[in-house]
Amino acid sequence: MAKLRKGKGKVGFVPTMGALHEGHLTLVRHARSVSDVVAVSIFVNPLQFAPTEDLDRYPRQEAADLALLQEAGCDIVYLPTPDVLYPKGFVSRIEMAGPALGLESDFRPQFFSGVATVVSKLFNQVRPDIAVFGEKDFQQLAVIRAMVRDFDMDIDIVGYPTVREKDGLALSSRNAYLSAEERVVAPKLKAALDRIRGVAKDGGDTNRAIAEAGDDLIDTGFDKIDYIALRDADTLGEITPDTKAARLLAAVWLGTTRLIDNIAV
Ligand code: PAF
Repeated sequence: MAKLRKGKGKVGFVPTMGALHEGHLTLVRHARSVSDVVAVSIFVNPLQFAPTEDLDRYPRQEAADLALLQEAGCDIVYLPTPDVLYPKGFVSRIEMAGPALGLESDFRPQFFSGVATVVSKLFNQVRPDIAVFGEKDFQQLAVIRAMVRDFDMDIDIVGYPTVREKDGLALSSRNAYLSAEERVVAPKLKAALDRIRGVAKDGGDTNRAIAEAGDDLIDTGFDKIDYIALRDADTLGEITPDTKAARLLAAVWLGTTRLIDNIAV
């Protein structure tokens, strides 16, 4: 990588777990537009999955991913195996507090340590100038921004807006798990977030709107609400008088699929 980057200008990087969709390709195209060399990694990171989660069934489609990346203008694809990133004797972890606390961490305690550890390793190996992440994983984006700031990593972190289906469903590799019936129900999550935003904008009772939205989602076929929460968009903590922008974030279960989404409020 060091040889490839020599004299080639800015390196843009998009870390992924593969099973690429239009959301990822939009990130790659954005990286293309702001850098000279574009690198994408594909690695399903075992550290960010709990033993009970979907590591084994996570969709893998390497050949299709490579074709899509070529079309999107990616120059370098990095496909490390687990023993390259975590060789025998690997014992280190990055533990994050701040924006990593609450929300996802309440339900996936291993997640941000796994993400921060792998992303810092990938950053050290690829040594990008710019890294592009989707706002779909809004808390992850905040955690990576905090890590880069705290560890003085000289990388410009760019967050890119969520890409959605026409009916509002946020693109996600995990949408592949949805049955045809579940796929019809899934966009109701975004519609519920929009309703809560409407109440917040009108100065209404957002706590009540959130509780009602949760009940409505269960009535329309969702199985479990992990959280629907209005948070400070910068800290991801509770809204305070200093809050400049708010973000509404949700994680819900539809059958065996966990959907996450968020919108600006
Ligand atoms: O968002 C993802 O796909 C993953 O969490 C990431 C950032 C590639 C780390 O494994």
